[in-house]
Amino acid sequence: MPKNTQVKSKKRVRDFGEVFTNEPEVKAMCDLISDDMYSNLTKTFLEPACGDGVFLIEILKRKLAYCRDERDGLKALNCLFGVDIQADNVEVTRRNLLAVYKEHFPDANNFAITFARAILQNNIICDDLLNPHTETVRAWGIAADEGYVRYLKKKQKIKSPKNF
Ligand SMILES: C[S@@+](CC[C@H](N)C(=O)[O-])C[C@H]1O[C@@H](n2cnc3c(N)ncnc32)[C@H](O)[C@@H]1O
Repeated sequence: MPKNTQVKSKKRVRDFGEVFTNEPEVKAMCDLISDDMYSNLTKTFLEPACGDGVFLIEILKRKLAYCRDERDGLKALNCLFGVDIQADNVEVTRRNLLAVYKEHFPDANNFAITFARAILQNNIICDDLLNPHTETVRAWGIAADEGYVRYLKKKQKIKSPKNF
């Protein structure tokens, strides 16, 4: 019998309705959206029940295809928002998205990777989307703002190299 990658356990299906979407369906659904949503690095996506991040992964790959460099890549990453009520799924989604970023930019420096992690920490959140905490709303309010990069630098105390 082929391994079922859509279900982790019967309990999780029962408790959280957790059934993951397969890649062909993810791609088909992403094809329904106009290319502008991927090429424009200000267009944002919210996955309200992100699971392991299959939709966000596909969206990131499509956005990265339009990125000229690591910095554009961070902008692409910062277009993605996700919530899941299960903490382990949130961790997996963050890890998966970081892996996609690193794979696309194998020479990315430590600053870019630290920044990518900070963005994911902020944007991919464990919460109940039906009843979100104020912090979630506040964090995303900041993320949507032009001053987000400045805010993050301050919060993370990150020093950027001259050309970044
Ligand atoms: C049907 S799965 C879909 C996962 C992913 N979107 C996909 O297509 O593969 C539903 C997901 O929603 C999460 N979930 C269930 N109730 C939620 C809630 N109230 N707020 C946020 N996430 C929730 C579950 O943990 C699970 O990962």
